[in-house]
Amino acid sequence: MTTVTVRAPAKINLHLGVGPARPDGYHALATVYQAIGLYDDVTVRSDDHWSVTMTATGDLDASDVPLDTYNIAIRAGIALTEHHHIDRAAHVDIAKSIPVAGGLAGGSADAAAALVALDRLWDLQTSDEDLLAIAARLGSDVPFSLIGGTAYGTGRGELVEPVGDSGGWWWVVIPNESGLSTGAVYAEYDRLGLGEHLNAPQKLFGALVEGRPERLATHLHNDLQPAALSLRPDLAQHPERIVRAGAHAALLSGSGPTWLGLADDGDRAREIAGVLSEWYPLVLCAPGPVAGAHVITYV
Ligand code: C5P
Repeated sequence: MTTVTVRAPAKINLHLGVGPARPDGYHALATVYQAIGLYDDVTVRSDDHWSVTMTATGDLDASDVPLDTYNIAIRAGIALTEHHHIDRAAHVDIAKSIPVAGGLAGGSADAAAALVALDRLWDLQTSDEDLLAIAARLGSDVPFSLIGGTAYGTGRGELVEPVGDSGGWWWVVIPNESGLSTGAVYAEYDRLGLGEHLNAPQKLFGALVEGRPERLATHLHNDLQPAALSLRPDLAQHPERIVRAGAHAALLSGSGPTWLGLADDGDRAREIAGVLSEWYPLVLCAPGPVAGAHVITYV
């Protein structure tokens, strides 16, 4: 086998409850993740040294992503070799479709994809437990990018367990032209003193199983929304437009600035996207939940 390609999905947070800052600087979370059908494809092949290339689809601007050993996919590869005490390197090529710095965990998707791809390329047979532990050290969302589906996340977001979901949700995804730093949004959350909300969202869990979008819409929640809007007041006009275009609810994705609209089904999502494209240069539609990082080709 000379190359392996792994596909990893974007994530959204259907519920993002944020607790106090911990001694390590991270915040305790009670969050519900869902993997949605926007993907990065990561292809790896063995090489003498680590390197990364990237192509972005369509109008996506990926110019801020580092193309050196700071790239999270390369850091993931190095972490995997250190775990196994092996001296290997690879070329990593990222075909990026997940908007960058958008609150969609695109970097985490690349890290998870690189872990799965290199594990397969070199037949390392890393246990799931070890892969999740390596993923957690790379970033709070990386373990979820490995498992996908819909999951409850605790700790700083890295402890994930699947939750029941009847499936078939459709999201309208409205990326923003300029990204937001996750760290800056959490710092603003602290500055605003917004409090602690760490209860498990039982009503949301019920709505996920029930499967009715209009009911799920009433239980979507993001504690970081006020902090993101405080940093970027221009984002405040979007929810009303999204709901007026026909979505059941508008929700900020993670730390933003991407907005999401919950639609009835795929046809309705495309209709809403058509209306919103009057205002926004890029509007996408994605189903959820979808699978976590998985091999799509090895040749
Ligand atoms: O874990 P990750 O590297 O994705 O986090 C990026 C930044 O977001 C952290 O450096 C931290 O400032 C903030 N963060 C946080 N609490 C979390 C997750 C992230 O404060 N649970």
